[in-house]
Amino acid sequence: LIYVIDFGGQYNQLIARRVRDLGVYCEVLPHTAPVEQIRAGNPSGIIFTGGPNSAYLPDSPQCDPALYQLGVPILGICYGAQMMAHMFGGKVEAAPVGEFGKTVCKVVGETPFFAGIQQESVVWMSHVDYISQPPAGFSVTAVTDNCPVAAMECPEKKLYAVQFHLEVNHTQQGSEMLHNFLFDICGCVGDWNMENYLDSEIARLKERIGGKKVLLALSGGVDSSVCAALLSRAIGKQLTCIFVDHGLMRYKEGDAIEETFGKMDVNFKRVNAQARFFGKLAGVTEPEAKRKAIGEEFIRVFEEEAKAIGKVDFLAQGTIYPDVVESGLGGESAVIKSHHNVGGLPEHVDFEDIVEPLNMLFKDEVRRLGILLGLPKEMVWRQPFPGPGLGIRVMGEVTPEKVDLLQKADFIFREELDKAGESGSLSQCFAVLTEQRTVGVVGDFRTYGYTLALRAVTTDDFMTADFARIPYDVLEKISTRIIGELPGIGRIVYDVTTKPPATIEWE
Ligand code: XMP
Repeated sequence: LIYVIDFGGQYNQLIARRVRDLGVYCEVLPHTAPVEQIRAGNPSGIIFTGGPNSAYLPDSPQCDPALYQLGVPILGICYGAQMMAHMFGGKVEAAPVGEFGKTVCKVVGETPFFAGIQQESVVWMSHVDYISQPPAGFSVTAVTDNCPVAAMECPEKKLYAVQFHLEVNHTQQGSEMLHNFLFDICGCVGDWNMENYLDSEIARLKERIGGKKVLLALSGGVDSSVCAALLSRAIGKQLTCIFVDHGLMRYKEGDAIEETFGKMDVNFKRVNAQARFFGKLAGVTEPEAKRKAIGEEFIRVFEEEAKAIGKVDFLAQGTIYPDVVESGLGGESAVIKSHHNVGGLPEHVDFEDIVEPLNMLFKDEVRRLGILLGLPKEMVWRQPFPGPGLGIRVMGEVTPEKVDLLQKADFIFREELDKAGESGSLSQCFAVLTEQRTVGVVGDFRTYGYTLALRAVTTDDFMTADFARIPYDVLEKISTRIIGELPGIGRIVYDVTTKPPATIEWE
């Protein structure tokens, strides 16, 4: 076990993922985590992350000095390095020349940390302060043109520090350096993998849940699906999955969910509530009002179904690790984030505790686990899909007819993207049925069909996004097919706006 102590750096989760990628389990803890908790975890090593503060200012975060007494190797990165230098009496100050981006780093000392690392290699820098003088007892092991202490160490105290971000891909040999730290300095063996994790998690869940009953709202999204499959392995039919079909899923997606979970060792219940949802949506045109109507109805249906089951002991949630870390609770039991439910946590479901079996996993790990558990590839690699579903992709009033038209058009769009080999590079792709009808001519007849918009984006974080450069000939094929097969649609447009200023969804 490695603890990554978070000082607010933008790459803190990336550090944790890199460690796990090397087969070493790690957890992120806030820098305020008490030293007793860290000692109790018996870590093989500790990593201090970067952060936005200046180590020499009085209010800047510091680790508990007792951490240095644990006798466990510590690696400080960027702010973590500067804080370490400052705490041991070195000098940290504003650098005359800040460094941002790729920088050539020269190794200047013999150290296991740089074993096998080229004398000169490119590293990723991002700092305005620097260590101008290492503390007594520390030796400098790397420099750059503008940074006299790019790396330093005090092997007697097992302390290591780098000014650059070895966790970022741009640091050419960052992964080798991390490997050196974890394996040669901390003595990790690298035996953490998803297979082991699955076995130990199943054992843990069995022990925690015993013979009790668990209820899960299954949406068909990656997290709730993997959560269901994992719990099924652990407790079988003690798990009840309620899938509320609001009729706003993509083409035949509700059936696919039923197909997968209907044959799994769980109590699976599909609630066909389409008519109820369409009833609530009649006459509603404003996007937020639609979201609210769908969210509230979802909760209502779920609660009714839950009531029919009676008291359950646990409510399962598909919370994943980044949510836990972002909410500042690393290591502690997580808060329930409302976006995991279509409209918040049900208030009137009788349960005693919450179980969140994925709350130590990153998204890509959840996907690997899903594959291990035998879930279909399409489900595990499913793109993000909004809780309100097609309700916010049919502009204006949502009717069953419009949803049917959109489902078919959206399916053709995605199918042709697949055939053209374009899907893999897209973060999200979908069709939007606008309210705009336009005139066309088919044969000798005038048509007056809806305008369908196609949206495909690439993004790392969904906060910003670029529109995908889909080749014209692929767009042509999609357009021809949709217009040919769906008479209600008269015109196709491709959305070429980035986010910002536009959002990814149209509503
Ligand atoms: P926007 O449209 O805000 O979308 O650029 C960013 C990401 O969030 C998804 N999204 C939603 N997800 N409920 C959800 O669960 C919603 O109401 C909702 N609105 C947008 C969107 O699909 C994209 O992935």
